[in-house]
Amino acid sequence: MSLIDPFQRSITYLRISVTDRCDFRCVYCMNEEMTFLPRSQVLSLEELADIGRAFTELGVKKIRITGGEPLVRRNVMALFRRLGQLKGLDELTLTTNGSQLTRFAKDLRSAGVKRLNISLDSLRADRFRELTRVGELDKVLAGIEAARAAGFKRIKLNSVILKNRNADEVIDLVAFAKANDLDISFIEEMPLGSVTDHVRREEFCSSRELREQLSGSFELTPLSEQTGGPSRYWQVDDSATRVGFISPHSENFCASCNRVRLTAEGRLLLCLGNEHSVDLKAVVRRYPGDQERLKAAIVDAIKIKPERHYFTHDDEPQILRLMNTTGG
Ligand code: 5AD
Ligand code: SF4
Repeated sequence: MSLIDPFQRSITYLRISVTDRCDFRCVYCMNEEMTFLPRSQVLSLEELADIGRAFTELGVKKIRITGGEPLVRRNVMALFRRLGQLKGLDELTLTTNGSQLTRFAKDLRSAGVKRLNISLDSLRADRFRELTRVGELDKVLAGIEAARAAGFKRIKLNSVILKNRNADEVIDLVAFAKANDLDISFIEEMPLGSVTDHVRREEFCSSRELREQLSGSFELTPLSEQTGGPSRYWQVDDSATRVGFISPHSENFCASCNRVRLTAEGRLLLCLGNEHSVDLKAVVRRYPGDQERLKAAIVDAIKIKPERHYFTHDDEPQILRLMNTTGG
């Protein structure tokens, strides 16, 4: 069995948001005051594991756990352990803000998590606090260290770059990645939901500008290798560090899209930049344990995967959900 969409793209990658909650309030992701989903509307860990299994039986090879912040969900380690044992799954990965990694890095590794993406937008404590509104840089740096000590290889940092807030730090961030043997991706802010602390159009900073800035300090060699994802990678100097650019505005990557997303409330989103979705929670709650019915619903859902996203710089976003309800 395999999942092929109407544009002949093979769907092999599922991103699962396990919670919309987070211990940070990043300015591009959340508002200061947030109302989170009532727990009864969030999929249980069992339901999440059943859906993960259904997707792997349909040919999905890679699952990434996202949020919100996945590690603030109670007992989430039980889910990692179950997914880590799925036959047919090549890669179980996690996107995290790093704040809880000193506690969880070792367990994640023994549960079978292969790789980590850790969000880090600034190396200056005061600025880090402004961007996350509440986060502590030191905790995240300690988390990165804990992940390295636990044996995670090629950890990737994710930095959302805003022109007037942290674009002047890209050289420092790459130097940090190089010194700590990490990869790093710079991400253009995506117009999901409306944000209160900045005007998105004014903060736009293209990946090309960033590469120009970096080329003054590093030798960047483009890598031809494609990961199937939206990142384009460059090798930094003669180090192992790779720097990636995720450019939803300036370099459309939809033609090679291989992924779908499951929200914490069980909505299967067929595209980050469109509202097309199917309610899988309705299926698992109405027919608990019926894997065949669940798989049929997934096969049907893939038929409405849109061809591409149309992100714009309008201040009125077309997509009303914020990233924390989308699965970052
Ligand atoms: N645009 C781009 N990236 C975002 N993230 C959250 N909101 C946005 C947005 N509007 C990223 C975070 C983190 C991941 C969870 O999603 O920086 O790396
Ligand atoms: Fe939390 Fe990540 Fe959103 Fe920041 S970007 S508020 S760390 S989910």
